Amino acid sequence: MLRIVVFVSGGGTNLQAIIDKIDSGSIKNAEIAGVISNNPNAYALERAKEHGLYAECVSPKSFGTREEFNQALLAAADKLSPDLLVLAGFLVILPREMIEKYTNRIINIHPSLIPSFCGKGFYGLKVHEAVLARGNKITGATVHFVDAGTDTGPIILQKAVEVQDGDTPERLQKRVMEQAEWEILPKAIDLIANGRIEIEGNRVTYKITQKAEKVGAMDWYFEGRR
Ligand code: GRF
Repeated sequence: MLRIVVFVSGGGTNLQAIIDKIDSGSIKNAEIAGVISNNPNAYALERAKEHGLYAECVSPKSFGTREEFNQALLAAADKLSPDLLVLAGFLVILPREMIEKYTNRIINIHPSLIPSFCGKGFYGLKVHEAVLARGNKITGATVHFVDAGTDTGPIILQKAVEVQDGDTPERLQKRVMEQAEWEILPKAIDLIANGRIEIEGNRVTYKITQKAEKVGAMDWYFEGRR
């Protein structure tokens, strides 16, 4: 059973998608050991509590120095004995020690098709504003392993989403969340929990199990890979 700790800062809709897909059985062999937020007002913490999950706030404002915060954040994760850390809209730069300790065991959801519209300054609505400003016709979301860079680790899954005429950043964000984020983040967790992910350098490949496996709406992930 893969123990995951979910890190959140905001509304927690990606956390909710993970909760729902574990409950429905779409995600197999994984459990949420806890939810950690840097923001005491994050509605994601309410979602965790409503679901009876351990939830803790580790706020930078509660510590005298960044180093003290970093140590507290790492300790909060460690005490839950996680196998996988899931950044679901977590707006805090992870401490180097955490990235080193959990190498290839931290994943992040980013609301664009990396390497477009990512890196420093590209988060939340800013991503969708930039997509609309550039006039893209397609955008999407990416789940990737976290490394020392910003949105630079090996890509696990991506899903494209159409940009529609008249889109506002808010409307586009909602479509990307509904059509991509809430699908590929849970799917990535399921792949990792069931030993389906291999990393070779910066490239992720999928181990396909022997039996022909129906993966429902995700068939297209494995089209031609059987
Ligand atoms: C999502 O758009 C995600 O792509 C980005 O932050 C947002 C988090 O939303 N990293 P939520 O807290 O999961 O609702």
